[in-house]
Amino acid sequence: MAQHDGESDSNMKAIVQHRYGSPDNLELMDIDIPAVKDDEVLVRVRAASVHPDVWHVLRGLPLVLRVMGAGLRKPKRAVPGTDVAGVVEAAGKDVTQFQVGDQVFGESVRGYQWRNGGSYAEYVAVPAEVLALKPANLTFEEAAAVPTSALIALQGIRHQGQVEAGHKVLVNGAAGGVGMYAVQLAKSYGAVVTGVDSTDKLDIVRSAGADRAVDYTQEDFTRGSERYDLILDVPGNHSWSECKRALKPEGTYVLIGHDHFGKAGHRIMGSIPRFMKLVALSPFVSQLPKANFSMPPKKESMAVLKELLEEGQLKPLIDKSYPLSDVPDAIRYMQEGRARGKIVITV
Ligand SMILES: NC(=O)c1ccc[n+]([C@@H]2O[C@H](COP(=O)([O-])OP(=O)(O)OC[C@H]3O[C@@H](n4cnc5c(N)ncnc54)[C@H](OP(=O)(O)O)[C@@H]3O)[C@@H](O)[C@H]2O)c1
Repeated sequence: MAQHDGESDSNMKAIVQHRYGSPDNLELMDIDIPAVKDDEVLVRVRAASVHPDVWHVLRGLPLVLRVMGAGLRKPKRAVPGTDVAGVVEAAGKDVTQFQVGDQVFGESVRGYQWRNGGSYAEYVAVPAEVLALKPANLTFEEAAAVPTSALIALQGIRHQGQVEAGHKVLVNGAAGGVGMYAVQLAKSYGAVVTGVDSTDKLDIVRSAGADRAVDYTQEDFTRGSERYDLILDVPGNHSWSECKRALKPEGTYVLIGHDHFGKAGHRIMGSIPRFMKLVALSPFVSQLPKANFSMPPKKESMAVLKELLEEGQLKPLIDKSYPLSDVPDAIRYMQEGRARGKIVITV
């Protein structure tokens, strides 16, 4: 297998974030192609995608993310982006599962996404264990639109929500990046799904497979008569006690949380205090999942997503594609909150 020792003098184009702040600070530059560690592969990036956590790390908000590994005064890793689809160019000496030329997709970071992952570049070094082979029925753009959003959705639907056939599932924020995968995943497990979102996105909720689409400007699901086995709550616009009204006694409430690009105003800790409150209640309330800060192995989760994508049970929806040089515009577009599907970067 080809090796890449990192001593190559060849450069690549990359989006570089010099400091925390606005998208105006991002610069397309020539920098060194990253060196690969023994357990990493060098991926020639063909596509990446944009999600709200990219915005968080760009802004350095909430401030707590800076001490959680993103970098105290400036980002530790200068190149943003955590989703990638591309071709294996070289591999570290311990990598056995991929060959040069393999088409792969996945997240470019181990663990959670509040850090830069280097995928807004021509090349990125990625731990092999977090990648999977790209489904042949997907383009690179489609594959790059999946990992972060679908991994969060899978964690909520499968690991925390434990959805089974016949369960009644409500996804709040069902047309967004996480929500539209959550609807499809719940359907693939045989659930009866209600999706809640804004008026002009209800077609997305329905095309994701929801049995019922609820317009949150017209109807408050917490005041309806339906009781759910799982509420997966992306925007978190209702309190726990309001959501509890719509849960079966043996149901489960999973909060994803969304800071609405700073509009929620939680500059220091973000949604963390709200999560901690739920965690503190969880020993006494069976509807709240017990505290578990470990994520399921990404390798296992990526294998599940790959299979569902190949079977056509999971389908990405892309709104717009931007070339690498236009990453700042892509992030501004996401921040406007009008996207109907995922925003993709082509490289
Ligand atoms: N918990 C975790 O482990 C974890 C990990 C990583 C990321 N995250 C977070 O997960 C979130 C992912 O969001 P995403 O990519 O799905 O965001 P998104 O694409 O912005 O989707 C959010 C959706 O919620 C809708 N919405 C807004 N207000 C609503 C309301 N009151 N009722 C119902 N729907 C409403 C939005 O529609 P309108 O704007 O049209 O209203 C939008 O369709 C991010 O905030 C990210 O930081 C969580």
